[in-house]
Amino acid sequence: MRRPIIAGNWKMNKTPSETMQLIEELKPLVRNAAAEVVVCPTSICLFAAKAAIANSNIVLGAQNVYFEDKGAYTGEISCDSLLELGVTYVIIGHSERRQYFAETDETVNKKVLKVLQKGMKPIICVGEKLEEKELGVTSEVVRSQTKKALANVLPTDIEKIVIAYEPIWAIGTGLTATSQDANNTIREIRAAVEEMFPGRSQDIRIQYGGSMKPENASQLMGMSDIDGGLIGGASLKAGDFARVVNY
Ligand code: 13P
Repeated sequence: MRRPIIAGNWKMNKTPSETMQLIEELKPLVRNAAAEVVVCPTSICLFAAKAAIANSNIVLGAQNVYFEDKGAYTGEISCDSLLELGVTYVIIGHSERRQYFAETDETVNKKVLKVLQKGMKPIICVGEKLEEKELGVTSEVVRSQTKKALANVLPTDIEKIVIAYEPIWAIGTGLTATSQDANNTIREIRAAVEEMFPGRSQDIRIQYGGSMKPENASQLMGMSDIDGGLIGGASLKAGDFARVVNY
């Protein structure tokens, strides 16, 4: 059985003190959650978050990392620093990073391999643009992104990986894929994993992301292949995020 995983991607929101406050509000609301609960603040708020999640069931994630161990890479952040701050998950290849910060399938793959090597777990984001959806090439796009992201991954590491299917047109727009469409595309992603890693695809958890909120969480989570959610806007209020977590 795949344990559901609900992760909050806070994006560039909340200061360190606001991070502590939001986590304090969240803790009692998600204490009895069946799902794994992850919060992903900005890198500079991870130190505050580490202290705030102590003695709770909340797990820490980062929004990005660099694929080199250390060195002359001004402004980048290493896996070792994330590990010291108690980070378990790292979001890799979010569409906003692909769009605004030149993230490519190749850099995504390098980051996935480094994060696994360092003992953390990647949350790999894939998803089609509106034009691609309209052209009817969603399946090809997400299959290609998935296979490139997973190149050279060890079959034994598959169970540590989370993939987030986030249709770009659904992010921050209030538009959501229908639960049936989201499930179908996630099945395509799982099929691509199966082609690369025969017999392993049932071990990988695949989330849906894109305007997931309290009102649609239970329907999405009720689908056969949707194992969790990557939540943007609705993760910034403790009450809303808790309602998604406790779908
Ligand atoms: P929204 O939930 O705000 O649409 O954002 C989704 C997302 O991009 C999570 O990574």
